[in-house]
Amino acid sequence: MWQLLLSTALVLTAFSGIQAGLQKAVVILDPEWVRVLEEDNVTLRCQGTFSPEDNSTKWFHNESLILHQDANYFIKSARVNNSGMYRCKTALSTLSDPVRLDVHIGWLLLQTTNWWFQEGDPIRLRCHSWKNKAVNKVTYLQNGKGKKYFHKNSEFCIPKATHNDSGSYFCRGLIGQKNKSSASFYISIGDPTSPLSSFPPWHQITFCLLIGLLFAIDTMLYFSVQRGLQSSVADYEEPKFHWSKEPQDK
Ligand SMILES: *[C@@H]1O[C@H](CO)[C@@H](O)[C@H](O)[C@H]1NC(C)=O
Ligand SMILES: *[C@@H]1O[C@H](CO)[C@@H](O)[C@H](O)[C@H]1NC(C)=O
Ligand SMILES: *[C@@H]1O[C@H](CO)[C@@H](O)[C@H](O)[C@H]1NC(C)=O
Repeated sequence: MWQLLLSTALVLTAFSGIQAGLQKAVVILDPEWVRVLEEDNVTLRCQGTFSPEDNSTKWFHNESLILHQDANYFIKSARVNNSGMYRCKTALSTLSDPVRLDVHIGWLLLQTTNWWFQEGDPIRLRCHSWKNKAVNKVTYLQNGKGKKYFHKNSEFCIPKATHNDSGSYFCRGLIGQKNKSSASFYISIGDPTSPLSSFPPWHQITFCLLIGLLFAIDTMLYFSVQRGLQSSVADYEEPKFHWSKEPQDK
């Protein structure tokens, strides 16, 4: 019962921000790539509303608060342990959705600006080299087949993704005289008309289901407690009624 009250209180706390008309903060990556190599520089920007008294920003890395209060969180020379989920919050904005950043070790990395795509979305792919070393004769491959070749390294853009663009991608090219390849990265293209096929709303769906479940349990408890009270009142009254009726019959 206490656990139930506690979880209801948590849900209500989460709602109170929304009820107070506060907007959700948003974490933006600059540059936009969600996958980077070690020693890259990345700035995470928190977009939210600040109050005149409190212009600080709270940053969370993998759900723990980090000691950084500026709206821009600059990661200089990223390390693998900088990977993970980032969220932020300002005085007049609620906690942002998480943004995932992965830091890899290697010579080449196939970079994307998102973790999931839907049909019709533009997809930017970049064959990024460690410390931005020059790469030439770059090929982007999909499911093992060459899809695009650039004599000088360039981004490969798919203006409007279709299901045929799903698959395992990697890039390769020459760094100096050495032939280097990136690891493969699977790109799946969801169908925007089917809400369950896209990955991002899952946590929201779970959240909504949880709230529905809590209300259902609350309602059930309310009615069973009421019914319990009514039946105990009825049990108590019935003998009294018979008892008072009997003398009149005689
Ligand atoms: C990161 O920034 C520093 C300067 O602050 C620069 O020397 C370095 O080359 C940058 N790293 C990359 C991979 O661009
Ligand atoms: C990552 O590891 C380095 C040591 O290799 C350490 O100095 C740094 O504080 C760590 N960063 C995080 C975010 O844990
Ligand atoms: C790199 O090696 C692959 C085979 O492993 C070859 O097909 C490709 O042509 C080479 N790339 C360059 C730019 O030489």
